[in-house]
Amino acid sequence: MTRLTLTTTSLANVAADAVIVGVAKADGGLVVAPGAADIDKALKRRLKATLSDLGATGALGQVTRLPTFGATKAPTVVAVGLGQAPARRQGYDPAAVRRAVGAAVRSLAGTGKVATALATVNGDNDPATVRAVAEGAALGGYTFAKYRSNASSDAAKPPVGTVSLVVPNNRDKGVRAAVDRAIVLGDAVALARDLVNTPAADLHPADLAAAAERACTEAGCTVEVYDEKALAKGGHGGILGVGQGAANPPRLVRIAWHGDTGNGRKPAAGTAVHLVGKGITFDSGGLSLKTATGMEWMKADMGGAAAVIATLLAAARSKLPVDVVGWIASAENMPSGTAIRPSDVLTMRGGKTVEVMNTDAEGRLVMADAIVRAGEEEPAAIVDIATLTGAQLVALGSRVFAVMSNDDELRAELVAAADGAGEQAWPMPLPDELRASLDSPVADISNMGDRYGGMLVAGLFLKEFVPDGVPWGHLDVAGPAWNEGEPHGYTPKGGTGVPVATLLEFLERRA
Ligand code: BES
Ligand code: MN
Ligand code: ZN
Repeated sequence: MTRLTLTTTSLANVAADAVIVGVAKADGGLVVAPGAADIDKALKRRLKATLSDLGATGALGQVTRLPTFGATKAPTVVAVGLGQAPARRQGYDPAAVRRAVGAAVRSLAGTGKVATALATVNGDNDPATVRAVAEGAALGGYTFAKYRSNASSDAAKPPVGTVSLVVPNNRDKGVRAAVDRAIVLGDAVALARDLVNTPAADLHPADLAAAAERACTEAGCTVEVYDEKALAKGGHGGILGVGQGAANPPRLVRIAWHGDTGNGRKPAAGTAVHLVGKGITFDSGGLSLKTATGMEWMKADMGGAAAVIATLLAAARSKLPVDVVGWIASAENMPSGTAIRPSDVLTMRGGKTVEVMNTDAEGRLVMADAIVRAGEEEPAAIVDIATLTGAQLVALGSRVFAVMSNDDELRAELVAAADGAGEQAWPMPLPDELRASLDSPVADISNMGDRYGGMLVAGLFLKEFVPDGVPWGHLDVAGPAWNEGEPHGYTPKGGTGVPVATLLEFLERRA
């Protein structure tokens, strides 16, 4: 993880291997964003012209490198595009700044120390801008090299060691708080990405549970792990049914963070938010086997669980004054002689029966048990996070996750939290008329319904397991949890850590 520090030393004099400046697109061509004046001066006011000559356009996330031949203390200037320059009196969009800083820091992997004055691009001590720069650096400073044998290869370069934010006053409380929060968020997102990127052979359900235990206990959470025996005793037919074909048994994990509302007082009973994460460590489809290409990224089918673990870690480390309970529903979905068969009937936690018509619709089965568990604890709200359907990718593409809910306010709250956190989310409906497609001729409900609107059908299935009167939100993050394409902004290839930033923002706004 990249370290973040604050400094008041000017950019031209700061001891660093590279400095990052911002450039933007304007009607008259390229403009250099505020925060680079002393660098420009040291370069005899030729910064803009030289960057233009090198092909810089100001396009968001475009990175241009410039050697300074001793004119500044740092040997290299890295200019990053901030997109369209804002109209006068309007500031640079913090979301664009976050992504641009992320792209710059990502491009500097392998570098020891980097400095930037982009935190002042909207004037001194603007908390939203400081936050955006700090988060861009923390989220862009990530690489996953655990499985590289050649540590000096390009692909195995470590993230930037330190990013120093040049600010006018490094004792400003708001500035320091923004940096501290970015460090907490960056560490949490890195944990989620690491878990998602880890091959399924090295991350069985028991390993996922152990990872939650390790990370969250140290931060002050209480963690309970239910093994297959405990799951059987508690009647968790969904988690057990999905896990029964695998050599590696399933787990349910409960992670609790008890906030402190000041003077040792605890939040009132019934105010806890419950987060439920899908933790399928590998989704082969089971007997309803996926195609070879359909399995390529299915080690990432625990992205929801990784996000819940990371969010609990962040909530605990930032000592949020709220109660949060995380649930990890984890199993490996494999075909074998002991696997569930299409048409088998499972009895879920709480007694509802499900006819399993497609063993590849396993996520909703494990999630249902965990949602029932959460519902037994008088939750103020339940939010579940799951890489649940391929239909999510069809509907919203690979970067925008879907928010469904039985409560208009909660849905709006979640979408707004994503907006504030710089992640992309969009509200989706749960149309009643699709529910009938889940009727089963033999059991209470089938796990397969209409193919059209498959994401909504999956949401309607989960809704059946939410107790009446409990506000519930459902985030389908099938696409956004994993980046199959090229890195962009602060998002690396592979595990992205979405929607950890949204969940932390959501909890903070509730606190
Ligand atoms: N884990 C998949 C969903 C998925 C697909 C996530 C692609 C990320 C990328 C899920 O378990 C699944 O297989 N869903 C099926 C449901 C269907 C059988 C009703 C799907 O979407 O095809
Ligand atoms: Mn599946
Ligand atoms: Zn799945």
